[in-house]
Amino acid sequence: MTIPPSFDVIGKKLPDILHFISLKNTETNIAGFDEKFLIVTIQKRMAALGCLKVDNYLGLIAENQEENASLIKLMQVGYSEFFRNPFTFATIETILLPRLVKQRKKTSTGEIRFWSAACANGQEPYSLAMLLEDYRETTKQLLPYRIFATDINMELLDQATSGYYSEKSLDNLTLRRLKKWFVPANGGYNITEEIRRAVDFSVFDLLNENMISPPVSIFGNFDMVFCCNLLIYYNADYRRKILEKLSKSLIPGGYLITGPAERHFVKEFGFHETIFNTAIFQKKHQE
Ligand SMILES: C[S@@+](CC[C@H](N)C(=O)[O-])C[C@H]1O[C@@H](n2cnc3c(N)ncnc32)[C@H](O)[C@@H]1O
Repeated sequence: MTIPPSFDVIGKKLPDILHFISLKNTETNIAGFDEKFLIVTIQKRMAALGCLKVDNYLGLIAENQEENASLIKLMQVGYSEFFRNPFTFATIETILLPRLVKQRKKTSTGEIRFWSAACANGQEPYSLAMLLEDYRETTKQLLPYRIFATDINMELLDQATSGYYSEKSLDNLTLRRLKKWFVPANGGYNITEEIRRAVDFSVFDLLNENMISPPVSIFGNFDMVFCCNLLIYYNADYRRKILEKLSKSLIPGGYLITGPAERHFVKEFGFHETIFNTAIFQKKHQE
């Protein structure tokens, strides 16, 4: 087994490694990534290559464009799952949705607006669409809603809009949902047209300083924003920029959902965790 250099050894050479990556990749903003994440990713890559000396890896990254691209690809983590955090989805279904529906009835302001802000291959916004359709059916409530789903990665968005998933990627789904919302095709499954049409996908960079929310949503004003398993890859400065944007895109009293490992970032930023020990936050009603 290859044992790559320690965290500290790679850490010392990190600025040099990043220098060569930045020279060759103008599209990916490496400077914004979290340092620990960068070091661990380089460590994994060196282990996979059987590379024992950080100077050798530095040489490789300086000269070899393919290695540069492979490392960048490893840093663009696009993994997702349907109903990835089941507790979050259960809380949305049993507590937040009834609240939002009640609020809508009081104010009669039309649709409930959702944004999945780093949707990867679509499993997160499609999970939400299934949940909303099931809710509508069981409660017989009129539930006008719109789901906008965005990501920076076009390749993942293409997969998302195709609505095609391998059997393995459906692990978290109940048999009832699988039968109701998926159709077997080419060794995998296609999501039904009803769910596919419920989500509006587009490309959007959360670090774009000129726009608060995806242009297709026209005016933002979301009741609920999902930004799960993205903050963890960025450094404190970039996390703050992203959280500022998401906060602006929410209506007062709107909900922000993150991954469980990201709760402390959001608390530090000043959001209130609406239900203890969840990754569900609420924007203050008055700002
Ligand atoms: C690990 S995936 C999370 C997918 C999904 N939210 C989940 O929790 O299962 C992280 C996603 O963030 C996207 N991403 C990274 N930086 C981004 C940025 N600046 N703007 C928009 N999306 C970004 C990546 O392309 C990737 O699809």
